[in-house]
Amino acid sequence: MSFEEKINKKNLPKHVAIIMDGNGRWAKGIGKLRIFGHQNGVSAVREAMEGCVKIGIPYLTLYAFSSENWNRPKLEVQALMELLVNTLAKETATFMKNGVRLNTIGNLQDLPKNCQSKLADTIELTKDNNTCVLTLALSYGSRAEIVEATKAIVRKVIDGEISVDDINESLISENLFTAGIPDPDLMIRTSGEQRISNYLLYQMAYTEFCFLDKMWPEFTREDLFETIYNYQQRERRFGKTSEQL
Ligand code: IPE
Ligand code: IPE
Ligand code: MG
Repeated sequence: MSFEEKINKKNLPKHVAIIMDGNGRWAKGIGKLRIFGHQNGVSAVREAMEGCVKIGIPYLTLYAFSSENWNRPKLEVQALMELLVNTLAKETATFMKNGVRLNTIGNLQDLPKNCQSKLADTIELTKDNNTCVLTLALSYGSRAEIVEATKAIVRKVIDGEISVDDINESLISENLFTAGIPDPDLMIRTSGEQRISNYLLYQMAYTEFCFLDKMWPEFTREDLFETIYNYQQRERRFGKTSEQL
């Protein structure tokens, strides 16, 4: 029986967040340049997206470029930005076919202008699709996101729109880039690294983590299904006892 068949369709994660890691090491392992790894990561993105659509996961968030990734060599950063534009152009048909709506989180104003406009065009084009929301985290850092949310809330207090006592957990959520998106139920990171690298820190308070040894270009939809199956074997207690559930 395949993992896809083993998955309990009534207990699917609503939101899967992925840290797509290991492109560089995968390429190095076969004697190629890092950018070759990034190029080959695109097919894994398609696998993850189509896997989510196939079993009915409504939110998929992919960490594509962190705020810290700006510190990489200039050529690699440039190549990643080009790859983003080219991929969006190529994948638009796949988004439309699968009913995928594109969304972004992060400091998009840091991206080159052509990336910003390609993203805006694709978001506009896919805005009525309603099978799955694909969110790309671009120039994204969770601490910076929390700082911005804090500033926005303080401004509202100063302007008299809200009082200090109106500040609660949901108000903070609503001021993050992910406003309106449920917290991730499952976070997957490839490449064997077991850290979260400034990803969705506030949102992942109760997320289940799965760390895979595979490098991102090797990731397939069957890996996604296997991971979801593993997720379903866990008991999410949210602080309660097993007996209370
Ligand atoms: C993930 O792969 C892609 C990005 C961070 C843009 P890496 O480029 O981090 O690959 P490794 O971790 O160096 O192997
Ligand atoms: C995290 O991967 C960011 C993305 C996958 C886009 P990194 O490769 O940048 O993370 P670290 O530096 O190993 O923690
Ligand atoms: Mg990495």
